[in-house]
Amino acid sequence: MISGKAKVAGVMGWPVGHSRSPRLHGYWLAHYGIDGAYVPLAVAPDRIEQALRALPALGFAGCNVTVPHKEAAFRTVDRVDATARRMGAVNTVIVHPDGTLEGRNTDGFGFIENLKAGAPGWTAATGPAVIIGAGGAARSLVVALADAGVPEIRLVNRTLARAQELVAELGPGVTCPVTAVPWDDRADALADAHVLANATTQGMVGHPPLDLALDALPRDAVVTDIVYTPVETPLLAAAQARGHVVVDGRGMLLHQGRPGFEAWFGQAPQVTDALYTAVFGD
Ligand SMILES: NC(=O)c1ccc[n+]([C@@H]2O[C@H](COP(=O)([O-])OP(=O)(O)OC[C@H]3O[C@@H](n4cnc5c(N)ncnc54)[C@H](OP(=O)(O)O)[C@@H]3O)[C@@H](O)[C@H]2O)c1
Repeated sequence: MISGKAKVAGVMGWPVGHSRSPRLHGYWLAHYGIDGAYVPLAVAPDRIEQALRALPALGFAGCNVTVPHKEAAFRTVDRVDATARRMGAVNTVIVHPDGTLEGRNTDGFGFIENLKAGAPGWTAATGPAVIIGAGGAARSLVVALADAGVPEIRLVNRTLARAQELVAELGPGVTCPVTAVPWDDRADALADAHVLANATTQGMVGHPPLDLALDALPRDAVVTDIVYTPVETPLLAAAQARGHVVVDGRGMLLHQGRPGFEAWFGQAPQVTDALYTAVFGD
C-alpha cells in the first residue's frame, strides 16, 4: 500500500520484462515498510534521453538503467561519479532536489560485494585475476577488481581486438597491469591466478558451456560466474568438482541495487537469504 507521498523509482530497459530489479526493490520496500514504489519502465533506445530528463518533472527519486541504455545514460546525466566516468556507463541515476541528474555505476560494487560474501577467505592482493569476456559486464569487473587491489588482471576474450580496446581504454585509469590474452592462450592464463571470473554469455541457458580447461588453475583460486541462469553454470560445477570455492552470479545483481535503494529511499538495505528466495525463487 502506498500513499500520495510515496517516493518512486524504477528501471529503464528495452526490453525490461526480464528484469528482476522490480522484485528486488519491491522486496526491500515491503521489508522495511517504506512508502515507495519501484516500477519497470520500458523505454525504447531513441527515447532514453527524453525519459531520463522527465524524471525530475515526474517527481521520481531516480532509476536504474539496464541494457541497452547504460552508455546513453552516461552521456545524458548532468554529472557522474568517478567509477561511472572510468567505465563510460551508468546503471544508477539519482535525481537531486535542484532537478539535476547524477549517474553512478554500481555493477562493479555488486560484483565485489558478492565475491566477498561468497568467498570470505579471498583476498584481492594474493594473486592475479583472470576475467573471461570483454563486453559491458567485463568492464565493471576490470575496474572493480583493480580497485579491490588485485596485483594483475588478465583479460581473455574470443575476439582479441575487443579485449585490447578495453585494455587501452581502462588500463591507464586503474592501478594494476591489465593484459589482453588471446583466446587460444586462455587455459595457460590460469596459472597462478587467485580468482577466475566468467563475464561472457557462455554457460547461460541456451548457450554452450564456457570452453575452458581448469587444469592450470591453483586449487585455492576462487571461481565466479556472473551468469546466473542457471545458478550453477557448467563452469561452476567443474570448479566445484575440483575443490574450488565458487560464487554464483545472483548476488552481483542483488548487491548492485543497494546504493541506489539507499539514495532513493533513505534506507541501507541488506542482502539476506529471504531476499534470494524472493528474487530468484520462481
Ligand atoms: N550477475 C549480474 O548481475 C550480471 C550483470 C551483467 C551481466 N550479466 C551477465 O553477463 C553476461 C555478459 O553480459 P554483457 O553485457 O557483458 O554481454 P556482451 O557485452 O554482449 O558481451 C558478451 C561477451 O561474451 C563473449 N562471447 C559470446 N559468445 C561467445 C562464444 N561463443 N565464445 C566465447 N565468448 C563468447 C563475447 O566475446 P566476443 O567479444 O568475442 O563477442 C563477449 O566477451 C550475460 O550473460 C549477462 O546476463 C550478469
